[in-house]
This record gives sequence, C-alpha cells and structure tokens, in this order.
Amino acid sequence: MNVSYKDLGLVNTKEMFAKAVKGGYAIPAFNFNNMEQLQAIIKAAAEQKSPVILQVSKGARNYANQTLLRYMAQGAVEYAKELGWEKPQICLHLDHGDSFETCKSCVDYGFSSVMIDGSALPYEDNIALTKKVVEYAHAHDVTVEAELGVLAGVEDEVAAEESHYTKPEEVIDFATRTGCDSLAISIGTSHGAYKFKPEQCTRDPKTGRLVPPPLAFDVLHEVEKKLPGFPIVLHGSSSVPQEYVDIINANGGKLPDAVGIPEEQLREAAKSAVCKINIDSDSRLAFTAAVRKTLTEKPAEFDPRKYCGPARDLMVELYTHKIVNVLGSNNKA
Ligand code: G3H
Ligand code: 13P
Ligand code: ZN
Repeated sequence: MNVSYKDLGLVNTKEMFAKAVKGGYAIPAFNFNNMEQLQAIIKAAAEQKSPVILQVSKGARNYANQTLLRYMAQGAVEYAKELGWEKPQICLHLDHGDSFETCKSCVDYGFSSVMIDGSALPYEDNIALTKKVVEYAHAHDVTVEAELGVLAGVEDEVAAEESHYTKPEEVIDFATRTGCDSLAISIGTSHGAYKFKPEQCTRDPKTGRLVPPPLAFDVLHEVEKKLPGFPIVLHGSSSVPQEYVDIINANGGKLPDAVGIPEEQLREAAKSAVCKINIDSDSRLAFTAAVRKTLTEKPAEFDPRKYCGPARDLMVELYTHKIVNVLGSNNKA
C-alpha cells in the first residue's frame, strides 16, 4: 500500500533548504540504524529546534529492515511532539539510492526525500537515471538529491584526487536537465573514519595528530557562482573527534590514524551554498566510545540498557554540538 509522507507528519527538503541557503547555515543529515541513534537525533533536534534529516542507507535497510525504519521515523515525529516540538520539521531521506526501483519504493513507502547516486556512472547515464527518479519523485512532491563527482573511500577505492572533484563547468547542465532539488559535490570529503591517508596529511608536532589537507573551497565557490542559491550537499562530513578515538583506543579498540574533516572547515561550508551536511561516522564513534568505556569500567554489566544508555547520552551531546556549534541550524524550526 502506498503512503504519502505528508500523512506521517514528515516534510520534504524544499523549504528547509531555501531557508538554510538564505540564512547561511546547514541542515544536519544524520544516519540512523537503531532506536538509540534515532532517540538521540530527535532529542537534540527537538531541544535545539533544528530542522533535521533522518537518513536511511542501503546498509541500514539491510540491517534494520526498511519497514521498521520507516515506522520508527513516523514514531519519531510523535516523539518530537511529546518533547514539546509543536511542528517538527523532520525529513526522512534515502541515502545513496542506487536504482530507480529503490527510490520508487521509498517514495511509495513514505520517504519525503530520496538521493539517487549516479555519481559512478558516465555523465549522460547519471543524467538519465536522475531525471527518471526526479520525474517520479516530483509527482509525489518528494525532493531529490543527486550527485556529481566521486568521493574517495566508499565510492572509490583510491585516495581523493582532484580529478574526482565535481567539475563546476558541468553543474548548470546537470541541474537543468535533471531537475534535481539539490546536488552533492565532491570537494575532498570522503566516507568513514579514515578520510585521508597519513601521507596526505602533515602532523601537528605538539600532539602528533594528523592534520588533513584543506577541502577544495575553490571548487565549491565555482559551483556556487554557476548555480547561485542552489542547495549544495556535502557527504562524508564527519570530523572524527579525537576524544572519541582516544576513548575507543584506550578501551581495547584499534583505530590508528583515524582522521576527519576539521569542524572549522565545515562551519565555513555551512555559511555558503552548502545546506545539507551528512554525518554518520561521528555517531558510530560516539556510540562505540561510550559502550567500550562502560564495559571496561563495569565488566559485570550485561544489561544492554546500561551501556546503550550512556551511548545514547553521548550521541545527544554530539548531535547538539553539531547543530549549535558547526551547522548553526538551532532555532530555525
Ligand atoms: O554513505 C555512507 C553512510 O555512512 C552509510 O553507511 O551503508 O554502512 O550504512 P552504511
Ligand atoms: P561520514 O562517514 O563522514 O559520517 O559521512 C556520512 C555520509 O556521507 C552519509 O551519506
Ligand atoms: Zn554519503
């Protein structure tokens, strides 16, 4: 049975992006796979009155079941109201949709936004696939994110190279011909907790920490010039907080040289046409850090609530920090 997201109390990204582009801030797009992550996202967003995008990846659908995730998102709207957020602005978004069929099934199932990720395809094939998804999604008032350029890591096995960056000269043609509502671009971010190889970084002599190379802001600014006011999306935008990495490593974990995008660069991006910033890995790190620490300190504990509870608390802290101190989306909903 087809369901419209509007009946679930969800919203698409149109209005939230228009306001974010004008207001010089970005909307958080947080991935969720389980109840604790969802609770933490909603609590932080409701407390900060921040519009929020709940992202469901293919991995999440395989892990948690897409039906369950959709009902959880519906429940999240009610939970937000219970927390005192009268008109929650919550979008349910398919992250990295890989086919027309997947996108269609999400639209039919109550998602308010979908990403069709044709970035690995030849340019004309990316356009054709994106256009097909846009036609179907727009007929249901669902917004569509597309991608041009290839991120290192998940989308490409080799390290970030300039040749993979989005080509600014293509964006007008791509956006016009596909009709997409937002565009993910490649400017040096990548997925996961190892965004740069040590040889791409320098080392801070005081701390011994890796210092990553800067993002390609010149590419971002060129794209902005070509498409003034058009919503731009950054994937792979976790900052890999070193305090979480340290807690994990001090409690039996092994994450050597994990490195992310410095928050000051994300802050700068959020002030530009970037109006959606994707964060998944930082939440995984917070969760894992809290669970490892609790289990080390309380080895006799075996009630999952006793270690998932602290993990949830730390994720609320993380999401709140991102909303208030990095994206600037607080008090915008
Ligand atoms: O784009 C990558 C996201 O972090 C989702 O990752 O497919 O492991 O859930 P996943
Ligand atoms: P991170 O791995 O940097 O959190 O990126 C998440 C993402 O882009 C999801 O689409
Ligand atoms: Zn992504």
